[in-house]
Amino acid sequence: MSTFPDQFRLDGRTALITGSGRGLGWEMAKGLAEAGARVLLHGRDRARLAPRLAELQAAGFAADALAFDMADRAAMQAEIARAPAIDILIHNVGERDRRSFLEIDHDDFARLIDIDLVAAHALVKLLVPGMIERKWGRLILVTSIVADLAIPNASSYTAAKGGLTSLARALAAEFGATGITSNALAPGFFATETNQRMIASPSGEHHRARSPAKRWAKPSEIAGAAIFLASPAAAYVNGHTLVVDGGVSATYLS
Ligand SMILES: NC(=O)c1ccc[n+]([C@@H]2O[C@H](COP(=O)([O-])OP(=O)(O)OC[C@H]3O[C@@H](n4cnc5c(N)ncnc54)[C@H](OP(=O)(O)O)[C@@H]3O)[C@@H](O)[C@H]2O)c1
Repeated sequence: MSTFPDQFRLDGRTALITGSGRGLGWEMAKGLAEAGARVLLHGRDRARLAPRLAELQAAGFAADALAFDMADRAAMQAEIARAPAIDILIHNVGERDRRSFLEIDHDDFARLIDIDLVAAHALVKLLVPGMIERKWGRLILVTSIVADLAIPNASSYTAAKGGLTSLARALAAEFGATGITSNALAPGFFATETNQRMIASPSGEHHRARSPAKRWAKPSEIAGAAIFLASPAAAYVNGHTLVVDGGVSATYLS
C-alpha cells in the first residue's frame, strides 16, 4: 500500500482534460502531467493545441491531443475511439452567455445547455464502460459557484452548471460500487484569459473586493484540487462539490 505523498501521484493513469488549450483546463493538464499522468489535451482545433502539446512533451511529459467540438457527437466518438484508455476525465469545457434572460431565445438556451451539460452526458457515457471494466475511474465535472449562487445575465450558464453538479452526484450514486468516483469542481473568480476584460472593469473590481482573499485567483490555483480529486488519496470522496473560491461562497459580506 502506498503512503503519502505517493497517494497524490497519478503515474500509470491517462487523463483527458476537455478545453485544455488555455485557462483552467491548461493549468489542470499541466498539474496532472506533473503528478505523473499521461495527459490528453483537448479543444476544437488541433493546430491551436499544438504549442501546448509541444510544451508538455518538451518538459518530458507523456501527452497527446484530441480535437472535437462538444456539439459534434460523431467527432467526439471518433476521437475517443482512437484515444488510449482514459482513467480520469476532467470535463472542463463550459461556454458562457452573458446576455439577459429576455435576450436569450429558446434555441440559444438549448444550445448552451447542449454544450455545457448534455455533451457531458455523451462523453461520460463513452468513457464509463472502460472504467467499469478496469475497476477504476475518476469523473471530475468542472461547474462553478454560480450553480448555487445565481448572478444576473447568466441564466443558461447557471442552469447548465446546476445540472452538471447534479449529474456529478447522480453518477456518484450510480457508479459508487464500481471503483469510479464522480465529483464536481466549482471555481470562483479566476484571472483567466477569458476574464481579462471583466477584471479590468468596475464589475471585476467588485468581484475582487467581494472575495475574502481580496484578489482574483491565479489560474494555477485550480490544479491542486483537480490533482486531489483525481488521485488515489480521494478514493472515498464521491458525489462532492469541491469549491475553490477563496471563501466567496462561504461569506455574505467580506
Ligand atoms: N475562469 C473562471 O473564473 C471560472 C469560474 C467559474 C467556472 N469556470 C469554469 O471553468 C471552466 C474553464 O473556464 P476557462 O475560463 O478557463 O475556459 P475558457 O477559456 O472559456 O475555455 C476553455 C477551452 O474550452 C474550449 N472550448 C470552448 N467551447 C468548446 C466546444 N464547444 N467544444 C470543445 N471545446 C470548447 C476552448 O478551446 P478552443 O477554443 O481551442 O476550442 C478553450 O480553450 C469552464 O467550464 C468555466 O465555466 C471558470
